[in-house]
Amino acid sequence: MRIPSFDLKRQYQNLKMEINQILQEVMERGQFILGENVTSLESEVSTYCGTKYAIGVASGTDALLLSLRALDIGPGDEVITTPFTFFATTEVISNLGAKPVFVDIEPDTFDMNVEEVEQLITKNTKVILPVHIFGQMCDMDKLMEIREGYNVYIVEDACQAIGAVYNGKKAGSLGNTGCFSFFPTKNLGAFGDGGMIVTNDEKIKEKVLMLRNHGSKKKYYHEELGYNSRLDEIQAAILRVKLKYLDSYIKRRQEIASLYSDLLSDVPYVKTPKIKEGRTHTFHQYVIRAEKRDELQKYLSDNGIGSTIYYPLPLHLQKVYKDLGYKLGDLPEAEKASEEVLALPMWPELKDEEVREVVEVIKSFYGKN
Ligand SMILES: Cc1ncc(COP(=O)(O)O)c(C=O)c1O
Repeated sequence: MRIPSFDLKRQYQNLKMEINQILQEVMERGQFILGENVTSLESEVSTYCGTKYAIGVASGTDALLLSLRALDIGPGDEVITTPFTFFATTEVISNLGAKPVFVDIEPDTFDMNVEEVEQLITKNTKVILPVHIFGQMCDMDKLMEIREGYNVYIVEDACQAIGAVYNGKKAGSLGNTGCFSFFPTKNLGAFGDGGMIVTNDEKIKEKVLMLRNHGSKKKYYHEELGYNSRLDEIQAAILRVKLKYLDSYIKRRQEIASLYSDLLSDVPYVKTPKIKEGRTHTFHQYVIRAEKRDELQKYLSDNGIGSTIYYPLPLHLQKVYKDLGYKLGDLPEAEKASEEVLALPMWPELKDEEVREVVEVIKSFYGKN
């Protein structure tokens, strides 16, 4: 692809000296598990997010899993979430023997429709799990109001939304826990897997610290079943370098998004992303709705331009969830979005002329069709 969906090589070229140096320091120190970079990154991320604590874990998936374990979620419990997300969000719920209960999405932001949450609450509902999809936060005021009224927890899946802001508060800081992924293509990406949980609750922090390390507080003494889910020292060192640039990366993503939206404003076959009042969008993905989406994607690809469909099949219709009993038509907005969405190339090092070229190809497609 001439213009891929994302490209990590340009960023490395820009950071090469700093990253190579810090990697060399880690290797020379010889401490690879739970070293000083993990501790420092935890404190830097908690400061960045405005939370009391941050705990590094092995992935975004584990951040969700350990959050739910820390809240004692298990068989018989229900977790209300969105079907329009990466599978990991609900995989962890199901792996704990709990049940995902799906709420439809808002058509303009693709986030969960918070107005439909309350009617799904039962005596078994323990958690509401909003996903700040593509980098824009859900309506947290409404969810926090529900949390008060029903005595449920909120776990924020902020895996795509580090740095996003909702009424002055950072993603991850409003839930009982907030979960981040450092998957390489994320806005803050490692050179492998990584994740983090942020929380203001000391009990949760203590429990997660224990769970990530085989259920152990004191070496070789185990209080409960845990996991090997520690954030790697090498990844933490890389992430500390990149965290310094995160806000500038987000700013550049926002500039690219504005340029796309301006250039596409006269294309009636395409709907560009909406940003709601009081929120920022970190544009982990720039997702349009497009007429003749599949043909457009092929045309882009034939012209050397990458694009991705997030997500082609909503989770309530996945084979793995056959037994939950959902059918086509149950969550129409999520189903419609799956047929229309297309993520265009988006990464901070993308050049303006490349954005213009992507839009030219889109315009030429609709000119022909
Ligand atoms: C919304 C969402 N939740 C969870 C995850 C899981 O994160 P990870 O890949 O780090 O396990 C991802 C990303 O991959 C994600 O996009």
